[in-house]
Amino acid sequence: MPFFATRFTERTAARWAALAALVSAAWLPYAASAAAAAPPADAKPVYSDAAALGKLMFFDASLSASGKMSCASCHSPSHAYGPPNGLAAQLGGPDMRSQGTRAVPSLRYVLNRTPMWSHAQAASMSERLSETDNAPVGGFGWDGRFNRLRDQASFPLLNPNEMANKDPAAVLAKLEHAPYAARFREVFGENIFTDPSKAFTQAMYAIERFELEDPSFHPYTSKFDDYLDGKLQLTAQELRGKKLFDNPAGGNCASCHIDQSGVDGSHPLFTDFNFQALGVPRNPELRANLDPKYFDMGLCGPLRTDQSSDRSNCGLFKSVSLRNTATRQVFFHNGRFHTLKDALRFYAQRDTNPAKWYPKDAHGKVDKFNDLPVALRVNVDTTDEPLTRKAGERPVWSERDIDDVATFLATLNDDYVLKPEQPK
Ligand code: HEC
Ligand code: HEC
Repeated sequence: MPFFATRFTERTAARWAALAALVSAAWLPYAASAAAAAPPADAKPVYSDAAALGKLMFFDASLSASGKMSCASCHSPSHAYGPPNGLAAQLGGPDMRSQGTRAVPSLRYVLNRTPMWSHAQAASMSERLSETDNAPVGGFGWDGRFNRLRDQASFPLLNPNEMANKDPAAVLAKLEHAPYAARFREVFGENIFTDPSKAFTQAMYAIERFELEDPSFHPYTSKFDDYLDGKLQLTAQELRGKKLFDNPAGGNCASCHIDQSGVDGSHPLFTDFNFQALGVPRNPELRANLDPKYFDMGLCGPLRTDQSSDRSNCGLFKSVSLRNTATRQVFFHNGRFHTLKDALRFYAQRDTNPAKWYPKDAHGKVDKFNDLPVALRVNVDTTDEPLTRKAGERPVWSERDIDDVATFLATLNDDYVLKPEQPK
């Protein structure tokens, strides 16, 4: 009775989501992610028929206009479901030559723990001034514009720069001829393809089930996980890096990239799913940036359209998980940096040496925060450590500190192999 089973999991999933939303309203943001993560203690590992179909779709390049691109082309399973290369944005489209506008995020860890998008409105001026009370949080995409994975999944399938199908019907026409089409009918009903809207909904739902159910999205096999479980000790250098990462008066990284376990013992994800404007420099590798009037402003558009009336949203992007970040070749929403150490140097030296990061404008002045229109640069975070310094001051970290933090972050890479105990 696969249909019944599917309905049931859909309802269960909806209840979890509702619960997460409820909790997140009261306990932003930590409890929300913990609640969403915790399966009932007696839950058996499930792998639904829908998830199995979703997996086939995720890896199926025939679902793209080019016939060459699947979800996995950009979200490579051997790269923590992140990009397999150092391109700032991937090439896709019907002829595989159109460039996207954003770096591919890793899909590991966040899919089943991202809270629903919310932006509690400030009740008073004083509340508005204390930023934590009305901070936007959650949702999928660098701008949080999708609340459900099933809604997100149709975007790359239809986006002209990515899998480039003209419309849902074009996706279904390909799906009907996929080697697993018969299975799709078995699971969702013999006549499913005669109702295109229902068929497309079920297809997106299948991808969502794969993303939520497949254990490869949340293996928790890093050295840091073993450390949290008390199976090993970190090296002196890794511990030094962690201290620099945690120090609220120093790196202060853990204030946004949370590294404490949840109340239920769930291991930390190194993100709080909040939105910030960090002032990452404009990236000339992105073709969209050839147009000097084009700005990717995250929460306030152009991809996201429902939050643009509030100009204080402009330039804000979602904080991402730092798990597996040390394996990446591309960093931040616009892929501006290509090594982890450069990303760390940017945090440490953005304000102490802006000339290193930003080009000069026509008057020979350093064009700080040049990836935002001048009037909106006030949105960039200059209040959270370490983003508070002045030009010429000493950076929060030395090169040696940066080495230590990078070494610590490498303990977040999955597939760590516990070495047999060294003889004393
Ligand atoms: C051409 C490269 C490319 C392809 C193909 C692609 N993606 Fe993505 N994916 C991205 C980029 C870039 C983003 C960030 C998008 C944004 O912020 O607007 C993203 C974001 C996501 C997110 C949000 C992650 C988060 O933490 O917020 C999910 C989920 C996702 N993709 C799933 C998929 C699925 C499922 C498919 C196949 C149907 C797919 N992607 C195909 C590039 C790609
Ligand atoms: C105020 C919150 C905040 C603080 C503090 C913070 N980050 Fe971030 N971090 C973010 C946000 C938001 C992004 C995404 C921004 C973007 O792409 O525009 C990000 C992105 C990153 C990335 C890029 C990851 C990727 O996959 O592209 C790295 C690496 C990173 N942070 C490391 C650090 C380190 C190390 C520190 C401490 C020096 C730190 N962060 C402090 C919010 C923060």
